[in-house]
Amino acid sequence: MNTEIIIIYESIYNGNTEKIARAMAQKLGCRYIRPKQILTEDLTKYKVIGFGSGIYFGTHHPTIFEVVEKLEQHTQDVFIFSSRGAPVLGKYHSGLKNALQKKGKNILGEFSVRGYDETGPWLIIGGGNIGKPNESDLKKAGQFVSKTLAEHCIADPYKEIKTKLPVKEGQPNTYSFMDNGTPVILKGDFVTINQTSCTGCMKCARVCPLQVIQMEDSKATPVNELDCTLCRLCIQNCVERAITLHYSWRDAIKVAKRHGKRVSL
Ligand SMILES: Cc1cc2nc3c(=O)[nH]c(=O)nc-3n(C[C@H](O)[C@H](O)[C@H](O)COP(=O)(O)O)c2cc1C
Repeated sequence: MNTEIIIIYESIYNGNTEKIARAMAQKLGCRYIRPKQILTEDLTKYKVIGFGSGIYFGTHHPTIFEVVEKLEQHTQDVFIFSSRGAPVLGKYHSGLKNALQKKGKNILGEFSVRGYDETGPWLIIGGGNIGKPNESDLKKAGQFVSKTLAEHCIADPYKEIKTKLPVKEGQPNTYSFMDNGTPVILKGDFVTINQTSCTGCMKCARVCPLQVIQMEDSKATPVNELDCTLCRLCIQNCVERAITLHYSWRDAIKVAKRHGKRVSL
């Protein structure tokens, strides 16, 4: 867990900004948390803080400003993000930027995407930005932190081991490598579980509708990777962010074909 960075976000409407916060946190291996959960925490210990929310009436959510108001006046790196209904960002970040600068913060970068919005005139056409933020937006969010906070991003294990699909039946492949001097063990190609990070809480194994993950030696292990439907319940329930999915469009088609034959869970 990256303890030098924290992402503080609010997402009151459609969970649009939460998706962005999660994608960024996964790239950085850090916590993403709502303002109310950290109001009593000392934020001076973080090297970088990310602040984000939906845009509500032209600016970020008031709880984000509450946190900023409580920040110590000292030099600290921050970044800003948002999701919005409007096609262009305009001056929506200005309020938060000013508040952070008043506290002596150094703004490393800003990121914004369009998010599903049914407010006001959008309602007439059944909502704007349908399906957004989408996979491409989440990828861009990851790329933003990779570029802005390159030295803080967790190593992409697949870059290291250069393993490619196709996935196979049976026991998952195991990969061991060193990440900044720490030994890391990964299991699985399609559904990859970082067994070094896994705490054995069993949440992923419990939520998986297709029993893709089972516990072996108190560690979550992908045992039926080809049964994975890419629903991502495991990822969403893993506090340690130990699970990743790696697939190409060919693999996704393979999965679709395989599940096409199913008649029930
Ligand atoms: C009360 C309210 C006010 C909003 N005001 C704006 C606005 O001023 N400009 C804009 O571009 N979008 C506005 N939106 C749309 C949201 O910014 C957009 O849907 C955003 O993705 C919501 O993020 P969330 O799902 O994380 O809460 C507003 C939405 C709500 C509910």
